[in-house]
Amino acid sequence: MPQPDDGSLPPGDVAALLADARERTLLLISSVPEDELMNQHDRLMSPLVWDMGHIAHFEELWLVRNLEGPVRFGEMPGMFNPFENPRSVRGELALPRLADTLRHLAGARRMVLDRVVEGGTGTADPRLLEGGYVYRMVAQHEYQHNETILQALQLKDEDGARYRAPRAIVPPAGRPVRADAEGMVRFPGGTVQIGTDDRTAAYDNERPRHAVELAPFRIGAAPVTNGEYAGFIQDGGYGARTLWSDAGWKHREEANLCAPQFWEMRGGEWWTRSMDEEAPVDPARPVCHVCWYEAEAFCRWAGARLPTEQEWEAAASWDPSAGTKRDYPWGDEPPTPLDANLDQLAFATAQVGAYPRNVSPVGAYGMIGDVWEWTASDFLPWPGYQTFPYPEYSELFFGPDYKVLRGGSWATRPGAIRNTFRNWDYPIRRQIFSGFRIARDD
Ligand code: AVJ
Ligand code: FE
Repeated sequence: MPQPDDGSLPPGDVAALLADARERTLLLISSVPEDELMNQHDRLMSPLVWDMGHIAHFEELWLVRNLEGPVRFGEMPGMFNPFENPRSVRGELALPRLADTLRHLAGARRMVLDRVVEGGTGTADPRLLEGGYVYRMVAQHEYQHNETILQALQLKDEDGARYRAPRAIVPPAGRPVRADAEGMVRFPGGTVQIGTDDRTAAYDNERPRHAVELAPFRIGAAPVTNGEYAGFIQDGGYGARTLWSDAGWKHREEANLCAPQFWEMRGGEWWTRSMDEEAPVDPARPVCHVCWYEAEAFCRWAGARLPTEQEWEAAASWDPSAGTKRDYPWGDEPPTPLDANLDQLAFATAQVGAYPRNVSPVGAYGMIGDVWEWTASDFLPWPGYQTFPYPEYSELFFGPDYKVLRGGSWATRPGAIRNTFRNWDYPIRRQIFSGFRIARDD
């Protein structure tokens, strides 16, 4: 096939990239009966048919209509526009049937591929096509919805109708990780580069790369484990007012928090559930499904604090002895199944140390995969931030309402994670696959 002369991707690469996203969307929903795809199982998440229709409209907007002239995000039809219909109301929408939604997904894709092969891409904003950016943006959008689909499926628990997870990967057992007596590794501080100037895959909020001065600090060599978190519970952490911030305590009382979401005490033992698999809580795996306030209280109990997102990114990406930055903890090569517990098909977290290659230059393990890691930081633009290509991805969310999470989870697709990737959510949220690691001033 001819190589387009717009600096974009070859048609075959576009097709493969988009197919990778679509195959997973269809795999994830394939064991779910149609009426359960139409239902909203929890007001925090969308009916899955909504995600599917929204994926189709997003692709159409950026890869079909955009080629005829500039588009605005607001052109997305009301029913599938996340701002017109927030998640809480999506259960009441008169959504199209599954068959129509599948036809829409396939039809939009056919139009995209027809145009890509014809090379009919000349009228869009040229910056969108440079390096194939717009194609990766659309694939990453579907990847991100692949993870939100799993958040919704984890919540689907009515009448024993749990999601039957197509488990295809069994992660290796954990191994000891090298750390100091407190389980931490040291970052020496100094000037580090944060963010990226990449214009092929990175989102606007990851740019630009900029220098930050960091004081020396220590950070957990691994995320906080279930075993460590159980120690906090056992020690009365949920009842100790002084461990919680005012906002955290208020939420703890209102939501009656007493353990991570999906934990249940049975005969004196903690049990948990990942999709359709119930098991005693594994003390060697990272704690998952905790909110920012729980992370904050645990850190205070441990005489520690959450890392800032700059500290987190430095610990994951910066090689202090070489003065260089890595795209992933292990180097610049994209994740393979040997590097990290990513890409969903384990349908669960892995034990700490299970992926010995998943270690950063300063010795921090598991920064990519397993659980998203809460940081101390509000979601704010980097200095020199410029919106691209639309304000509804990042700009509308900047401010003190959202806390930043880093590193991706077992439910994150590899193409949607890197050391500079920034996720954000409300500090009360825990249906996401969220954990954390601790930090201390050195
Ligand atoms: C980056 C995960 C916060 O789910 O709201 C999906 C991703 N943006 N469609 C979200 C997203 C548009 C976004 N997060
Ligand atoms: Fe979306």
